[in-house]
Parts: sequence; C-alpha cells; structure tokens
Amino acid sequence: MRILVTGAAGFIGATTAELMLSRGHDVVALDNLVAGRRENVPGGATFVEGDCGDMALVSSLGDFDACVHFAGLIEPRVSMEQPERFFENNVASSLRLLEVLIQRGVGRFVFSSSCAVYGDQLEMPITEDRPINPLSPYGQSKRMVEEAMTWLSRLGRIRTASLRYFNAAGGTLAHPERHDPETHLIPLALDVAAGRRDYLEIYGTDYPTPDGTCIRDYIHVSDLAEAHLLAIEALAEHGELTLNLGSAVGSSNRQVVDAVRHVTGMDLDVRYVAPRPGDPASAIASNDKAREVLHWQPRHSELEKIVADAWAARSAWSKDRA
Ligand SMILES: NC(=O)c1ccc[n+]([C@@H]2O[C@H](COP(=O)([O-])OP(=O)(O)OC[C@H]3O[C@@H](n4cnc5c(N)ncnc54)[C@H](O)[C@@H]3O)[C@@H](O)[C@H]2O)c1
Repeated sequence: MRILVTGAAGFIGATTAELMLSRGHDVVALDNLVAGRRENVPGGATFVEGDCGDMALVSSLGDFDACVHFAGLIEPRVSMEQPERFFENNVASSLRLLEVLIQRGVGRFVFSSSCAVYGDQLEMPITEDRPINPLSPYGQSKRMVEEAMTWLSRLGRIRTASLRYFNAAGGTLAHPERHDPETHLIPLALDVAAGRRDYLEIYGTDYPTPDGTCIRDYIHVSDLAEAHLLAIEALAEHGELTLNLGSAVGSSNRQVVDAVRHVTGMDLDVRYVAPRPGDPASAIASNDKAREVLHWQPRHSELEKIVADAWAARSAWSKDRA
C-alpha cells in the first residue's frame, strides 16, 4: 500500500512508519517539525516537510490507500494555556486533512486519539463505551476530530479508525522516546538514572490507589505500531472503529520508579510533591475490543520490558551522539 503518515518525525509516527516500510509499504512521511526531528524519519520513507492542514500540499502528494494521522500537539497542560493553538493545530488541520483525503478518494483513515477523551473515570478498566469527558482542550481536540470522523464514515466518505492510546512508552533502538519538553514519567526517570537530571518529581501520594500514587497503563510503542497496521487492514471490513490501545495493566508511579531502579541499577533521587489538579488517580484500558476486532495482542508491554527497551534505546541514542 501507499500510506501517508503525518507526524512521522515524532515518537510513535516514526516507529510505525519504520514497521510499515519493513512490511513492504510505501510511506510518505509528512511533518512540519514543530516537535519532531528530521533524523527520526526512517530512511526508506519519502519525507515532506509541511503542515498536515496544508490542503494544496497534501493534494500534491498524489494518491494513497490510507492515511495514518499522528500529527498533533500532545501536551494537555500546555493546551490549558494555549487552547486556540490546540484547536487550530489538532482540530482545524485534521479537518482540512480529511477534506483533501476525501477529495482524493483515500479510503482509510487511522487517527491517534487518546485516553484523554475519557477524563477522570472511577471504574477500571475503561471500556470504549464509557461517557466521554475530556478535562483539557487537548482531550477535547481529540474528541472533536473523532466526532467528525464518525459522521464522515457514517456518510460513506471515508472509513475511519480512532485509536485511543493510553500511555505510549518503551522505544526501539532506532526511535527512543524523546519529547521536548519531556513530561512523560519513564523518560524523565531514565534521565535521572543517566545523570541528565538531578531528581524526579512524583505528584501526589494520597490517591485512592494501593500505594497512594497515580496508576497508568503503559503500552509499548512497538505494540502500538503493530495495531496501526492491523487497523488499516481491519478497515477493509469495517466502516468505523473506535478502539482503546493499552496493555490493560495498571502501574503505579512508585512501581515505575522501582522498575527504573531495577533495570538501570541506579538509585534515583525521587521527590514526592503535591498532586497536580486534573490528574486522574487511575487510567487503565480495557483492550478486549482491540484484541477481538484487530486480532491484536500486546507482546512487549510488560513494565520491565518497556523500561528495559526505553533504556536501551536511550543509551544507543546517547552513544551515537557522544
Ligand atoms: N505519547 C503518548 O503517550 C500519546 C498518548 C495518546 C495519544 N497520543 C497521540 O499520538 C500522536 C503522536 O504522539 P507522539 O508521542 O509521537 O508525539 P510527537 O510530538 O513525538 O509527534 C507528533 C509529531 O507531529 C508533528 N506535528 C504536529 N503538528 C503538526 C502539523 N500540524 N502538521 C504536521 N506535523 C505536525 C510534530 O512535529 C511531531 O513530529 C499525537 O497525536 C498524540 O496526541 C500520544
């Protein structure tokens, strides 16, 4: 297939583009490099620097069998300060992208949605039919695109899959997890282990969880990448899909710190500080639907494996730049 991958210079997009190439697909990698890095784009892909909402540019790229749309701003906290930017970049650009894909007759669209659409849920695990209640413009931006996708697929314009990722993590030797600024727990903890940061802050110790710290569901980026290929295939049969992608296992912040200590052999200076408003106590996916519909199963998402792969990817990357 010829596949348009937006956001392919970012963490999940680059990893997925690499897998697509290894399976013999042609990949056009579109990224405006607002957060991604040119060097992340896998060698075999055709790289186009530009905005996914630039209709003339996207139209000029030719025909595609499918588009996988990773491009987006990703930081919920930043979205509380710059909501307009998130609605423009994540919603308006996505709608323009969809419009031009439909004009060009592209049949399948796979979208990076997020567990942020669920907000703070009391009952775990979270199934796809739970009430939607985003707590930030970021989560809302994902929901707005999902809603447009639902109508477009129902009206027969394009087949769509909304993949609601929980916490993407891990990494491959080619693609370590690196965001700028970094806000994700595992890379931050590894930075401390590597001596690049002095200490790690953990927000809150009084949550209603067994050890008092927040619980999250970490899903290895390689498992995510595989699910995208399966979702493209599944759209041959389905007009519209909405699927959680998570490991279905919750790990507390303390468990992550322990795993990082164990994997790296380093002690970490951990500072337990006040909770942040808006952080849900727990977010654990039910992944039953993705398993059933995609015949997918997470193979790399055990916490120690995620941390070990993230550490190996990070170490290889640092060595390259030494
Ligand atoms: N990382 C996670 O845990 C997580 C969880 C849920 C959902 N997601 C979603 O997955 C997607 C990928 O996340 P990531 O962690 O790889 O982030 P990332 O920042 O590494 O990658 C996003 C990429 O999109 C590009 N981009 C942003 N806006 C663009 C635009 N308008 N046009 C073209 N390129 C643009 C950036 O330059 C970057 O390369 C995002 O949509 C994010 O919201 C990520």
